[in-house]
Amino acid sequence: MKSIGIIGLGSMGGMMLDRFIAGGTPAGNICAATHNPQKLAQFAARYPGLKTGSNLEAAKSDIVFICVEPGQFKDVLLEILPALSESSHIGNIASTVTIANVESLIPCKVTKLVPTITSKVGRGVTLVSYNDKITPQDKQDISGLFAAFGELQELPEGDLAYATELTSCGPGLYAYILGQIASAAQKYTDTVGEAEIRRWLMETFAGTIALAEATDMTFDEIVSGVATRGGITEEGVRAMADMNLNAVFDAMFRRTLEKRARNEEKTNSMYEAPKQ
Ligand SMILES: NC(=O)c1ccc[n+]([C@@H]2O[C@H](COP(=O)([O-])OP(=O)(O)OC[C@H]3O[C@@H](n4cnc5c(N)ncnc54)[C@H](OP(=O)(O)O)[C@@H]3O)[C@@H](O)[C@H]2O)c1
Repeated sequence: MKSIGIIGLGSMGGMMLDRFIAGGTPAGNICAATHNPQKLAQFAARYPGLKTGSNLEAAKSDIVFICVEPGQFKDVLLEILPALSESSHIGNIASTVTIANVESLIPCKVTKLVPTITSKVGRGVTLVSYNDKITPQDKQDISGLFAAFGELQELPEGDLAYATELTSCGPGLYAYILGQIASAAQKYTDTVGEAEIRRWLMETFAGTIALAEATDMTFDEIVSGVATRGGITEEGVRAMADMNLNAVFDAMFRRTLEKRARNEEKTNSMYEAPKQ
């Protein structure tokens, strides 16, 4: 079994450590490092046998996941370079750091991953792209490691951006939509409380998704199944269509993709060779 290094135990690095262990990776196979020694001690107490150390020590593992913010990524990579070689395998989860950015500093095996917070409960889609040094065995190692994360979807790196909005930004975007529905519903009742509305909404969304999964019904089929001609649901669907809800989501994708492109440009400039 390959040894695993994790550098950065924030929201994503911490979740990944939890899920690797949930998926059967022994704690003793993992070496974790992070800025905050208290956080490191908490994880060591939670998982007896977990190795902890410096970034450089974690980087001596067979697969090294760098789970820091994009702006901190280059400094971390430069710091661990002495522990790396062309046969090293870097797992990069930093959203705007590309495979080419990593290769510009070390031409090793690179797996670019887009995790999602919903993997905390073993669901969701983790996106993955590989560079050309990655072997079928490396891919199998990654699949095994991510077994408890939900789905693992391989895509060419060029397709990650829009897919990321759906799978990784998704939980935040969808939670915002649910919040908007809940606060609109609240205006129409004096008797039902916030907690009840939230519970009904969550159960109905979960039920709608479970129905689609169990029956293979499309979203349109579910709409027609509920919105009988001349009925109440049809009126609600019309109200959303009249407000051009589709244009709202169009604008959302346009804005997130534009912002992502600007951030990628900024990140790229950090990796460009200085002009002579
Ligand atoms: N959050 C998401 O849903 C999500 C989804 C997909 C991808 N991502 C990507 O995942 C990466 C991490 O995001 P996050 O939300 O987990 O961020 P985060 O919660 O801020 O975690 C970053 C962690 O890195 C540690 N760190 C910073 N500099 C370090 C260094 N030099 N050496 C060792 N550890 C260092 C920080 O330690 P301290 O706390 O001690 O400063 C912190 O624990 C980002 O690149 C982001 O683009 C995030």
